[in-house]
Amino acid sequence: MSVSLPAELEKKIDEVITHYPVSKRSASLPVLHLWQEQFGFISDEAIEFIAKKLDLQPVHILELVTFYPMFRREAIGKHHIKVCRTLSCALGGAHETHACFKKQTGAQGDDHGPISSPDGKYTIEYVECLAACGTAPVVMVNDDFYENVGPQKAGELLNKYK
Ligand code: FES
Repeated sequence: MSVSLPAELEKKIDEVITHYPVSKRSASLPVLHLWQEQFGFISDEAIEFIAKKLDLQPVHILELVTFYPMFRREAIGKHHIKVCRTLSCALGGAHETHACFKKQTGAQGDDHGPISSPDGKYTIEYVECLAACGTAPVVMVNDDFYENVGPQKAGELLNKYK
């Protein structure tokens, strides 16, 4: 199997590996982040490529991807909406906010995993505490952070991220 990478990404990967002169294995997480930033998810090809690059077996990379919830095995929508569902947010209305995002985007599926809108614009996912419990419910859209996101603000966010 061979993967053709953008030259810039390969350069970044090679550079980050130099930060770990004792063991290339320690570069696994930074390399996975670089890959996901570029492609949006970690494919089987990615796992094989990264393992080879770091002189590891593919299972060493797969176990990281399946352990850490921030890594995805499938492509997501253009905008990734993360709704905190831990206690303060759950009590503050996170489930209503999540339901509002679902209804307005048309996303359907099992709420326990990421669900995407039919047009591929949005992926909605519950996450655990985002460390702003006093301003529940808390939502992230891509890398942006929002507090006190009730149904009305959820609608405003969908208008902002088109
Ligand atoms: S419980 Fe939602 S931010 Fe902490």
